[in-house]
Amino acid sequence: MKTTRTTTRTPSVQDEYFVDVLTVVNGSPHQWRVDTRTTLLEALRDTAGLTGTKRGCDQGACGACTVHVDGVRVLACLMLAAQVDGCSVTTVEGLSDGPDLHPLQEAFLRHDAFQCGFCTPGQLMSAACLLREGRAGSDADIREFMAGNLCRCGAYDNIVAAVREVAAQSEGGA
Ligand code: FES
Ligand code: FES
Repeated sequence: MKTTRTTTRTPSVQDEYFVDVLTVVNGSPHQWRVDTRTTLLEALRDTAGLTGTKRGCDQGACGACTVHVDGVRVLACLMLAAQVDGCSVTTVEGLSDGPDLHPLQEAFLRHDAFQCGFCTPGQLMSAACLLREGRAGSDADIREFMAGNLCRCGAYDNIVAAVREVAAQSEGGA
């Protein structure tokens, strides 16, 4: 999507600490003026109001904050908002295409693949990339490539079953 940067503020003494970020989030242009220390996670949750992306550890250890940047999964707590200038960001709110749930979301429901649900957005975003990368060929692969996504409730078996089902549907051309 084409985006246009607009200048609306008068420069102030604090401007050296702020940066203009022009990005596309879930298909819509977003222009943020953020402190250079603002993480992508903070910008998404606190500035864009997209609270589907969860803050777990806030230090890159749990995967709760997983989103896609230009189609690649990243940990939003370890990325600065300034780094997504010119990029396309997808959060769990943008995972489905239209009003229907994404096949992974449906499979998670079918397989009871969550309990508290706190880790689920990150699990879904990781799984979506895993499928796109063709790395869901076996249960071992799914476990290996989603090892960075922790679930405190221990719903791992059901998560694997849900991802495996969608992978099998994809292989079958569904
Ligand atoms: S909140 Fe980002 S990895 Fe835990
Ligand atoms: S479903 Fe509760 S932390 Fe994963």
